[in-house]
Amino acid sequence: MNPKSNILQRIEAALAAVPYPSSPEGLYEPIQYVLEEGGKRLRPTLLLLVYSLYRDDLERAIPAAIGLETYHNHTLLHDDLMDHADLRRGRATVHRKWDENTAILSGDTMLIMAFRHVMACQCTRRADVLDLFARTAQEICEGQQFDINFETRNDVTVDEYLEMIRLKTAVFLGCATKAGALIADAPEADAEALYAFAQHVGLAFQLQDDYLDVYGDPAVFGKKIGGDILCGKKTYLLINAFNKADADTRQRLSALIADKTMPAEEKIAAVTDIYNECGIPQLTLAAIDHFYALAEEALTRVALPAQKRTVLWEYAQSLLGRKS
Ligand code: IPE
Ligand code: IPE
Ligand code: MG
Ligand code: MG
Ligand code: MG
Repeated sequence: MNPKSNILQRIEAALAAVPYPSSPEGLYEPIQYVLEEGGKRLRPTLLLLVYSLYRDDLERAIPAAIGLETYHNHTLLHDDLMDHADLRRGRATVHRKWDENTAILSGDTMLIMAFRHVMACQCTRRADVLDLFARTAQEICEGQQFDINFETRNDVTVDEYLEMIRLKTAVFLGCATKAGALIADAPEADAEALYAFAQHVGLAFQLQDDYLDVYGDPAVFGKKIGGDILCGKKTYLLINAFNKADADTRQRLSALIADKTMPAEEKIAAVTDIYNECGIPQLTLAAIDHFYALAEEALTRVALPAQKRTVLWEYAQSLLGRKS
């Protein structure tokens, strides 16, 4: 069997086997709702794929893997509240299906459950894994705060943007691969190179998320197209459109982003037209390729046989063509 599909089955089975108290229903039902279905399971897959390159007893790493997925879904509950998003994985978000208090409290509970899962991992380097996980969780909060701060700024640079997405998204992929290496007692130098590899994949992954937010197929993406434009998110697309546009177009773009009364569809279409005029889709896809090249280079520094490294590289590349 293909190692990735085996790993995916193990993740789904482990998530489905997590016991939940039956009361209060309003706390636990939304948690099961977000964890039960959909999602690429990217972070636990990375952790388990790395682990499986060093050791065969996959079961040992499962609690940490589901801890990471639980944590990821915690960030999504709160992110959707902060981003006013109605749709996630093709279904109503928790604050829409229930209410805002539910999103806050069920989200908090998932954060705690995530740490409890990671704590249950039986490995010699558990303290290091927990430290890495806690540091990463705090960095993600920093990234999310920058993301929100940037909504009300018009002078965000590409470098500031890259640091923001490194914190909100890329470090978590680094954490997943490094945790897999630590749990497997892999050499320290491998753990660091695997972190660098996944962090570069993570930068590309968030660039692609920004791209799909504008150019994705709504039937497959699972989120509403144009959400970033409506929030005034300083994405790679918007920052570069500001940088590339002539003075007139830049002024038109500024006015569009600031406009709070224009119908949503009209605003999204007008901003997308400017992106197209400025060659923004091509520029974004080139940036994604750039970070994949850096990821490939980092992977060569992992002292595993080339055949094993290929497993990770192929998995990373499969994310490139993603539509959701
Ligand atoms: C969504 O993550 C949040 C980002 C970092 C872009 P994923 O695209 O991994 O979401 P799911 O879990 O597969 O739905
Ligand atoms: C994702 O950023 C970052 C985290 C959830 C920490 P986005 O806000 O772009 O993610 P989506 O597009 O809502 O999944
Ligand atoms: Mg967000
Ligand atoms: Mg969001
Ligand atoms: Mg997004």
